Formats: sequence, C-alpha cells, structure tokens
Amino acid sequence: MSATATAFTARIGRIEISATMAINNEATVLRSQGVDLVDFGAGEPHFTTPEHIKQAGIEAIQKNFTKYTPVAGIKDLRQAIVERHKQDFGSNYTFDETIVTTGGKNALFNTFQVLVDHGDEVIIPVPYWVSFKDMVQFCGGKCCFVPTSAEDGFRLTAAMIEKAITPRTKIILVNSPNNPSGAVVAPEDLAAIVKLAASRGIYVMSDECYVYLDYTGKSFSLGSLTEYKDSLLVMGSLSKTYSMTGWRLGYALAPLAVVKQLTKLQSQSTSNPTSIVQKAGLAALTSSQQCVAGMKAEYITLRERIVNGLRQIPGVKCNMPEGAFYAFPDVSEVAKRAGIDTLQLSSRLLHEGHVVTVPGEAFGLAGHIRCSYATSADAIDRGLERIAKFFAAL
Ligand SMILES: Cc1ncc(COP(=O)(O)O)c(C=O)c1O
Repeated sequence: MSATATAFTARIGRIEISATMAINNEATVLRSQGVDLVDFGAGEPHFTTPEHIKQAGIEAIQKNFTKYTPVAGIKDLRQAIVERHKQDFGSNYTFDETIVTTGGKNALFNTFQVLVDHGDEVIIPVPYWVSFKDMVQFCGGKCCFVPTSAEDGFRLTAAMIEKAITPRTKIILVNSPNNPSGAVVAPEDLAAIVKLAASRGIYVMSDECYVYLDYTGKSFSLGSLTEYKDSLLVMGSLSKTYSMTGWRLGYALAPLAVVKQLTKLQSQSTSNPTSIVQKAGLAALTSSQQCVAGMKAEYITLRERIVNGLRQIPGVKCNMPEGAFYAFPDVSEVAKRAGIDTLQLSSRLLHEGHVVTVPGEAFGLAGHIRCSYATSADAIDRGLERIAKFFAAL
C-alpha cells in the first residue's frame, strides 16, 4: 500500500459508517440476488412526495430557478419556516434566526461543528439516533450518555440529565419523538431540562425531525419556550413530515449569532440548499397541511398493527410508541434463548428470516431491534409472520 493511501485524518477515523445505511446496503445486496425481503429497516416514509410539492419543484426547473441562492436559503422559505413554526408551536423566531440546510442531518452536523470543540461534552440520552454520536466525535467532542429504559417508557427527566452535567458540558441533546424508541418526552420534562440548561449556560439541541408525527395529541416544540430562546437550538426537517427524504431539506432555528456561524460554514461547504428543492419546500410549508394529517392517520393504524402483532410473538415485549414510525421491541429473551446478542439476531433475521430490522446496538441499547412500520399493512403482516416463525425455530 502506498504511504498516501493511509494518510487519513484523525477525525475521519473517529466515525463509522451509519449503521442503518450499512444494513440497507446489505439488504440491497440480498435483493439483487433475488431474495424477497420484508423491509422493517427503512428510516423513511413509504408514501410518495405529495403531488403539489413535486409540481413546485418541476415548476422551479421550468422557470429556470436553477442558480445559486443566498447561502442561508431564499428569504421566502426562511420566512415560511418561521411562520409555520409560529403557527404550529407558538414560537417567535424571525427569518434571520433560521438557516435552510441540505436535510436535517446537515443542520445537526453543522451546528455541532460550530459549537463543539475538542473535549467539549454533549449529553445524549440512550437510545439515540445513530448519527449523533459520530457527529460529536467528528468534532473531537465527548458523548456523555444518559440511559433510559423501556420499563420506564424511556422517560427522560431533568434529574437524569443533571447527573451527567460537568463543567465541560456544552450541549444537551433531546430527540422527541425519538428514533428508535418512538417515545415522546413529556413537555413538562422537556421544559425542566431547558430551564436547567439555561441556568447552567448550556445549549439544548432539540432534534424535532418527527415533531409532526406525535400521536399523543399534544405535539410540542422546544421552540415554544420563547423565554429560553438564547439556549435553544431547534433542528427541523421536511424529510419525514412531507415524505421528502430524497430532496434533502432541513433547517435550524437558533440564536442569531449561531445562525451567522452556520451561514459562514455553509458558505464554505454546500453553498446553499438546492434551489429547486427550496421552492418545493416553500410549497410544502405554505400549502394545506392536509397531506401531513393524512400520512399521520395512516401511521397510527400501522402502529397498532405492528405493535399488536409483535406482542403476540412469544418472548417479545413492546411498548406502544407515541411518535415517529418505529416500534422498538425488547427481544432480549429470544436472543438469550438462542445464545446470541441482538446484533447477531438481527443479522440472522435478515439472512435466514428475510426481514430487515436494525439491532438495538446501533442505537446504544442492546436487547432490542428497531422495526419501521412505514410500510404497507400487507408487508407488516408478512414481516410479523416471518419473525414469529424465525424466532420459534431458534
Ligand atoms: C432522529 C433523526 N434526526 C435527523 C434525521 C435526519 O433526517 P434528514 O437529514 O433526512 O432531514 C433523521 C433521519 O432518519 C432522524 O431519524
């Protein structure tokens, strides 16, 4: 091997390929070999992007809206983001307190980049979405994990967070509704966490990727806590809300000083979110929100179906998720009986049972597997049947 081939940076060595993407790649290989898989692995809606949003993108191309845009996004879109947020959650951001990004992931990544230095600590509740840990490590930051448990409904309280705070704590991360557990943190617990953070001069980063897929009937954004605005970093995404995962559109709502730094970073990296996608995003945010309600209603039905089915499988325990589109059953009894961990269980379920799931290890919580129910009712039934059969034979 040549000397240059191994000269990678220390920071790229600190991260791993996203576990969910790795599993999807494995599933793609099996499919290309003709294997019929039931896919509970997908982290994306099974719906097509609503027609009026697609049309706005097409129109943008036809009208030649295909040049660079302002770095932080077109003003109309930034205005639409803050207005929708205000209308839905009672926040009071101005357009210059938001930046449009290339997906929610890009908003999260860049925000960590501008705030986390070597040795800074970020508090991350477990289970966590796969990318948080790597994003923090890429900055040279340290992840401080706070465990939550299925028995307790994955409850997260300010008292739990407080124990993890040190003089190096820079950010407390919350993700409600949660990927992978589907748990929703009670608004009063979230408010107590923000109050605690503000009193210690710590930011709360709220990943609200699934905020519109909250089935508790009281969707809550931390952005509504306007008196704590200086301490809040609200990360949004259009991906799941409008079934726009491939378009790559997200945003951050943050103090002006943070938005300025994010804009500087964006000016030296992606330059701007794709022009035509911004127009599609504008249509999504400013048109009727009926499409969101329709998708949400279907997720609620699918959620019942998968959870009830999982609960009937011997050895499987499953909380009723309160948001997002994932069930996160405890399958530790099954894995124990087979003498394997859930990493192996999920892998064998893929290769022998032909159902794609993501092992809890990827989210920091072994003993579970994540099953996405963003799929058809028929696929859910077939997947459940295969899981039951495969577990019974172990
Ligand atoms: C919790 C969470 N945050 C952020 C994202 C990023 O979504 P996107 O970059 O598509 O907006 C995802 C995607 O799966 C997610 O599950």
